[in-house]
Amino acid sequence: MPGLEGLPVLVVGATRGIGLAVAQELVRRGARVGITGRDPQRVAQVAESLGAWGRALDVRNRAVIPEVISTFRHEVGLYGLVYNAGISPAFTRADKLDPEVWDQVLEVNLTGAFLTAQAFARELYGPGSLVLMGSVLSFKGGARLAAYTAAKAGLWGLVRALALDWAERGIRVNLVAPGWTETEMTQGLREHPTLKEAILREIPLGRMASPEEVAKMVAFLLEPGNGYLTGGIYAVDGGVSAK
Ligand SMILES: NC(=O)c1ccc[n+]([C@@H]2O[C@H](COP(=O)([O-])OP(=O)(O)OC[C@H]3O[C@@H](n4cnc5c(N)ncnc54)[C@H](OP(=O)(O)O)[C@@H]3O)[C@@H](O)[C@H]2O)c1
Repeated sequence: MPGLEGLPVLVVGATRGIGLAVAQELVRRGARVGITGRDPQRVAQVAESLGAWGRALDVRNRAVIPEVISTFRHEVGLYGLVYNAGISPAFTRADKLDPEVWDQVLEVNLTGAFLTAQAFARELYGPGSLVLMGSVLSFKGGARLAAYTAAKAGLWGLVRALALDWAERGIRVNLVAPGWTETEMTQGLREHPTLKEAILREIPLGRMASPEEVAKMVAFLLEPGNGYLTGGIYAVDGGVSAK
């Protein structure tokens, strides 16, 4: 079955956590990997450690997104793209949510994904595979996470629309939906004794995912050998969505 050997894949938001694990998994599978993140020094460091291509990109700078993807195509090529950038700055009831925080979350988690997907499709000549990073909150409600939940649910709609628009071009589009995963994003919660226990009780497998477990699903969806998969959502959540 065709794997990722030699195929160029850009991971947007790959300096740590799930994105870094995705980049590492892709390198292991022989892909020609590119990574991005906001801090140029950190990007250069991570890219060097992986033997990958790297560029600084803050996805809030809309005009820069097509430029970075175009440069990656010219310098490396283009087959796959993973949009992993995401933030979750507020854990607060919706009636107290600052509209500016709403805008920030939607900008990075949803609008950035659309603009990146659009730039990817415009740059791509042949078939390709696009994976967006959703969440179990793409299809469940998240208490005190209104903006994050709205953005991640929006990604699930976006993935289905893009899959339909681009199927005839051979571009597959899928959404990965992790549950609780051990990264910086969840560090505060994991260090909180009572909250951590409450979260673990809600997970049928009784533990959080490792970033590597999520990365394997991303790599699987990118592989050309899995060419009949498009417009889907793939939970990596220890059974949370089975409830
Ligand atoms: N951890 C979980 O439990 C969990 C569960 C479900 C879904 N997810 C999703 O999985 C993805 C990765 O999460 P994580 O837990 O690995 O988070 P993380 O450790 O906080 O990493 C987030 C990544 O996004 C990048 N990023 C953030 N803002 C950006 C911006 N404005 N422009 C460009 N890149 C930006 C960061 O890069 P820089 O900081 O270097 O710019 C970093 O590489 C997110 O989309 C998140 O919503 C996480």
